[in-house]
Amino acid sequence: MYKLSQLTEDGSIMLHGQKIADTILYVNGDFVKKSEAVISVYDSGFQHGDGVYEGIRAYGRKVYRLDEHIKRLYESCYTLGIDIGKTKDEMKEIVKELIRRNLDAGFTDLHMRLQVTRGFKAQTGMHPTLNVTNASIVICVDQKPPIFNKEGITLVTTWLKRYSPSYMDPKIHCCNQLNQIMAACEAIRQGADEAIMLDQNGYVAETNSTNLQMIKDGALILPTLDSQLPGITRKTMIQIAKEMGMEVQVRNVSVSEYYNADEVFICGTVGEVVPVKMIDGKKIGTQIPGPITEKFSQEYKKMTETLGVSIDD
Ligand SMILES: Cc1ncc(COP(=O)(O)O)c(C=O)c1O
Repeated sequence: MYKLSQLTEDGSIMLHGQKIADTILYVNGDFVKKSEAVISVYDSGFQHGDGVYEGIRAYGRKVYRLDEHIKRLYESCYTLGIDIGKTKDEMKEIVKELIRRNLDAGFTDLHMRLQVTRGFKAQTGMHPTLNVTNASIVICVDQKPPIFNKEGITLVTTWLKRYSPSYMDPKIHCCNQLNQIMAACEAIRQGADEAIMLDQNGYVAETNSTNLQMIKDGALILPTLDSQLPGITRKTMIQIAKEMGMEVQVRNVSVSEYYNADEVFICGTVGEVVPVKMIDGKKIGTQIPGPITEKFSQEYKKMTETLGVSIDD
């Protein structure tokens, strides 16, 4: 029902009619081809989604906002009691080396999923005392240009709530994404690109994989961080708005406010800044992309070209 990808007879993987590149990954100390990368079935990530991750993009020979991503990763691990066993600087060097290897092999548009799990288990069972190794570190690399249609996407509001901190703090960027995957399934069933997830009080939290913002009467309005991931791109949008002299309102926002916004856009590392053209079947604004969304998108693009940690330093 949900498949856009397929496995061909010669073992290659196709997505949108294109062969997926056999990029180079990092798996627990080794640099290996994607087609040969393996990890134990007893890994805590496979068994329970017991781990955290960061989605990181490289633009040319720079890794965009690497320090911020590493900081969030280490904070999530600290909360979960996962000892990464490497310093932040060591982790950054691994990322840089991995990007160098992929670029040298001719791969472009590199997006990484840096995952740290609680490691391998002696036997099945959720209890962390069953873990016998240090954390597992896996960095998947894909050739992945921004994934959403820049011409605008459609959203539907799902009945499924985003977690509040009293269930599973969304500030932990955890590998277990069933909450959001169920929301994504709902979006697909309804023919939309993404789902809007509400918080436990019925205010907008975020979409299943991005932060959601709106423009009304010249102000940038965005939900509080109570029930959403503190997105690095979200923070950048606030920075851009302030630099543009715009009013910024961080507060509870209801879906009906989004329906009546002048402009709505999603943002995140994997898709950058993307206008929303429809929510729950209602058209948003009068122009897609709206002028302010377009400006945000351009400013963001400039930052991706200039900011970031060079892999050559
Ligand atoms: C649920 C969710 N919201 C928002 C984001 C965007 O965060 P960032 O801007 O840090 O990529 C992500 C990215 O992983 C996410 O998973």
